[in-house]
Amino acid sequence: MSNYHIKNLEEYFQVYRKSVREPENFWQEVAEEHFVWRKKWDKVLKWDFTKPEIKWFENAKLNITENCIDRHLLTKAEKTAIIWEPNDPKEKPLHITYNELHKKINNVANVLKDKGIKKGDRVCIYLPMIPELAYAVLACARIGAIHSVVFAGFSFSALAARTLDADCKMLITADGSFRGNKTIDLKGIVDKALEDCPDVETVLVAKRTGAEINMKEGRDQWLEPLMEKASDECKPEVMDSEDPLFILYTSGSTGKPKGMVHTTAGYMVYSAYTFKNIFNYQNDDVYWCTADIGWITGHSYILYGPLLNGATTVMFEGVPSYPDFGRFWEIVEKHKVNQFYTAPTAIRALAKKNLEFVDKYDLSSLKVLGSVGEPINEEAWHWYDNNIGKSKSPIVDTWWQTETGGIMISSIPFVTPTKPTFATLPFPGIQLVLMDEEGIEIKGNQVDGRLCIKFPWPSMARTIWRNHDRYRDTYFSTFKNKYFTGDGALRDEVGYYRITGRVDDVIIVSGHNLGTAPIEDAINEHPAVAESAVVGFPNEVKGNALYGFVILKETGEKRDRDNLRKEINQTIADKIGPIAKPDKIQFVEGLPKTRSGKIMRRILRKIASGDTSDLGDTSTLLNPEVVEEIIKNR
Ligand code: WT7
Repeated sequence: MSNYHIKNLEEYFQVYRKSVREPENFWQEVAEEHFVWRKKWDKVLKWDFTKPEIKWFENAKLNITENCIDRHLLTKAEKTAIIWEPNDPKEKPLHITYNELHKKINNVANVLKDKGIKKGDRVCIYLPMIPELAYAVLACARIGAIHSVVFAGFSFSALAARTLDADCKMLITADGSFRGNKTIDLKGIVDKALEDCPDVETVLVAKRTGAEINMKEGRDQWLEPLMEKASDECKPEVMDSEDPLFILYTSGSTGKPKGMVHTTAGYMVYSAYTFKNIFNYQNDDVYWCTADIGWITGHSYILYGPLLNGATTVMFEGVPSYPDFGRFWEIVEKHKVNQFYTAPTAIRALAKKNLEFVDKYDLSSLKVLGSVGEPINEEAWHWYDNNIGKSKSPIVDTWWQTETGGIMISSIPFVTPTKPTFATLPFPGIQLVLMDEEGIEIKGNQVDGRLCIKFPWPSMARTIWRNHDRYRDTYFSTFKNKYFTGDGALRDEVGYYRITGRVDDVIIVSGHNLGTAPIEDAINEHPAVAESAVVGFPNEVKGNALYGFVILKETGEKRDRDNLRKEINQTIADKIGPIAKPDKIQFVEGLPKTRSGKIMRRILRKIASGDTSDLGDTSTLLNPEVVEEIIKNR
């Protein structure tokens, strides 16, 4: 595996230069050395960002699960593939070997086939972090069905919207889920969602909580007895490199969620290669990413990336605060975790607690720490470095997106010197550019601008499910011939990148990507609401919190304000999920608007943050008087 692990900075620059000068040779070598192919490609890359059309490893044939599992059976059959750590520390963890994983996913794959699922069909997966989630995802990939995992914290209408958009024939769920000291009625949410989804023919239900649930005749069936009856041999479907592997929804700044489509070969090559290098994974290491598989982080760096490398990956069902704030560190000690990957919001929440929660545990197994999902502030970075890494484990601050499929900017541990709050350097193959608002590239160092990528990489999303125009308009039309990330970034004197945050109407709350438009749509559905605007404002733990400005209809004005707030929050929780509830809702007479009728969010952001000393130029507003009123009643 000569070119697989980058060993020092000089080698990084060498590899990076090669990846830019000869991208096809570069990726061809990675692809040839580390994977099994049923048939090799005719051409490594074909691309055109104006259409946009991107094809990697054209006409190659493969199955990703063969690479994730079968390939390891010769040498690692009894190695633990997944350590499953339950919500309740008193319940026993499971150590699932590659051999067992192979059998289980084949069981589920055969169940899916038996229910009529074929290559190309969409299967919605709405499961908590239990082993069946991993089995279901990989079983889909085994038979060429396209998985669409919906985070099990999403509401029934968010689930319904995603199930409908992807036109899923089947849904896989559980009777319920455990989160800390709460039990959630998952099946009840599914039943409500499916009232609007008549095309879902089969619902498979995994047993977790043992709750009494409703089973709809002819539609719902328990998963386990079916698995027991099914064969544990299932031939992998031979897939084309560009066949879709999965759809994963992400919020946009406008309208409904975007079903990002990821395809097979490029995603496989990139998730595996980044995993190995960015976490410096060595053969017997235990790796843990605390994300949920409902997000891209879990797809690429709990399941695919680690399994493609024959790694041991931890899957945690619970939350960092249960039974107390030492849970993460208890798990690190128990499973001797070597690489630990989490989000700044979790770090900030834990940093507020007494250090006793950390010091009780032996964290000496840790070698590499990772951060993802939002900018990590300096204080949190140092807390993580000092108290968790004991100043000996490098922190990789990894910048990427659902759309990019894998990590784009990150230091490489023991290779790239770190710098707090900087994601540092692009991964090999990633050609970054900063653009100004006029569409001119900003060259040189010590500059900031809009972050774009000017050359394709293997794991980029190929389209938005059944909406290629939206894909082009969102990512490829702002800057000609470039992929626009929606983020701002600065490049320092040595070429390190620091992400400064979104430049569009997406707000990252606790590492979750939320569009303002869908939240406003939800608020506006309340019968007493005339209009609303949602903005983000800084929050110590969540990074950003939401602030909603709401104009009531005349009929609504007489109603009790606290009740209205509760109802509006409930509407948001139903439409999107509890995560999207604003920290503050203020009822206002009007919203500051430009003469063309656009809400001036810049001003609302200032007011929300409590800093009204300099509101900038308000003279171009259509209604400058509302600004005073809003500040007065804040
Ligand atoms: C947005 C993508 C892909 C991981 C989970 C989020 C922000 C992500 C970082 C980081 C600063 C970051 C960006 C990005 N973001 N990682 N290390 N530093 N910001 O995926 O939900 O698609 O959100 O998260 O704003 O555009 P996502």
